[in-house]
Amino acid sequence: MNKQLVLDSRIEALLDRLYALSSSQSEEMMSYFTARAEAGDIDWNAFDAAANQFLSDKLVALDREKAEFCYQVCRALRAKRVVEAGTSFGVSTLFLAAAVRDNIRADGGQGIVIGTEYEPEKAKAARANFAEAGLSDLIELREGDLRETLADVRAPIDFVLIDIWTPMARPALELIAPRLRAGAVVICDNTAQFRDSYRG
Ligand SMILES: C[S@@+](CC[C@H](N)C(=O)[O-])C[C@H]1O[C@@H](n2cnc3c(N)ncnc32)[C@H](O)[C@@H]1O
Repeated sequence: MNKQLVLDSRIEALLDRLYALSSSQSEEMMSYFTARAEAGDIDWNAFDAAANQFLSDKLVALDREKAEFCYQVCRALRAKRVVEAGTSFGVSTLFLAAAVRDNIRADGGQGIVIGTEYEPEKAKAARANFAEAGLSDLIELREGDLRETLADVRAPIDFVLIDIWTPMARPALELIAPRLRAGAVVICDNTAQFRDSYRG
């Protein structure tokens, strides 16, 4: 893995472990979705119960290069209020919280990353990871469906990462858009790969 950005050793050790786990699941994910796609049996706009069950313990972590890019954008924006739709085990959240922490170190004040995740076991794992990284104080993880958990996010929001099953991207954006500050940045993952599903 090509690291352009090196965070503190405590976080890097955890990230190495989480990315190794994520890679170890890639082949299984590829086989599962390839088989279902070949059988004409998968709807990318609405996962069925079997697909949701299959994904319930998968990290599906944001690629390191993309997560580093999000860190750098948050630093450039001096972001202190960040929202993430789709937290899973919290890999991308660690980069966002590290950026908020470093912005606070530079400029003072307070900050928060609001994440959301509807799989209880993933949320539990994410909380353990945040504690291990020493970043829990900067992360508010809201458990449940984002259409409810993000309904009362307060303005102003500086940066948003949408890294979620594509049908949820628009509902997330609709909830958060009115709370974005002027000049805020929103990043969505996989918009080229899932162009059709993102059409809405
Ligand atoms: C691509 S993964 C997020 C990966 C994470 N950003 C990372 O880098 O580690 C998307 C996550 O969104 C969660 N999710 C999907 N639909 C959701 C919804 N309606 N509300 C909350 N979480 C949801 C899934 O359980 C999954 O863990």
